[in-house]
Amino acid sequence: MRIDILTLFPEMFSGVLQTSILGKAAEKGIVQYKVTNFRDYSESKHGTVDDTPYGGGGGMVLKPEPLFRAVEDIAQGTKPRIILMCPQGRPYRQAIAEELAREEHLIFICGHYEGYDERIREHLITDEISIGDYVLTGGELAAMVVIDSVVRLQPGALGNETSAVTDSFSTGLLEYPHYTRPAEFRGWKVPEILLSGHHANIERWRLKESLRRTLQRRPELLEQLELTKEMSELLAE
Ligand code: ADE
Repeated sequence: MRIDILTLFPEMFSGVLQTSILGKAAEKGIVQYKVTNFRDYSESKHGTVDDTPYGGGGGMVLKPEPLFRAVEDIAQGTKPRIILMCPQGRPYRQAIAEELAREEHLIFICGHYEGYDERIREHLITDEISIGDYVLTGGELAAMVVIDSVVRLQPGALGNETSAVTDSFSTGLLEYPHYTRPAEFRGWKVPEILLSGHHANIERWRLKESLRRTLQRRPELLEQLELTKEMSELLAE
């Protein structure tokens, strides 16, 4: 998978894309990152990328030319998803991460400005994504969140292949509680069933705990799910 990032602050990405799972994925050749300062695509010799809004009012607006030129240069020969990070976008969730993880090429556009010229929205991008109902100073942190959640879904990116499958949200439920040694810590004991070695009972206990946690914390997730007979029985217990 190729991931391009267009930003005026490329230094924000240094470190993040080289570290841990994201860094290892690049080392293994699973993903290729490229961070581009779209000021390099400005048509003016001063590197101007924004201007005052037509009709007046405060703030600056990102001009269309540098972003169109940058994307057209980067997208040669590919059919990328071109994603604008902004608070007005589609609310981000795991199902969108799974959808993006199947693409060959993603281009993220990160702005720090009051606005984008509307022609960027209408004629350049394919997606607008928001990571939540709050306003960040720019799209960079939001793009990092999306990139992290997409790269870890690439086959081979996580050491342990099963872990992405049992994650919270990919099952539609929150994760069950985890324990490791010691079996007793400051008087707090690990649930007996996890020490029993009885795999079927352990699976049932985990499913029950997932259901309980989801019901307590995020009941709306349960409403979106088609419950199996076993799930309904466990919820009724
Ligand atoms: N840029 C500023 N705020 C944002 C948000 N909540 N999501 C995505 N991009 C943003």
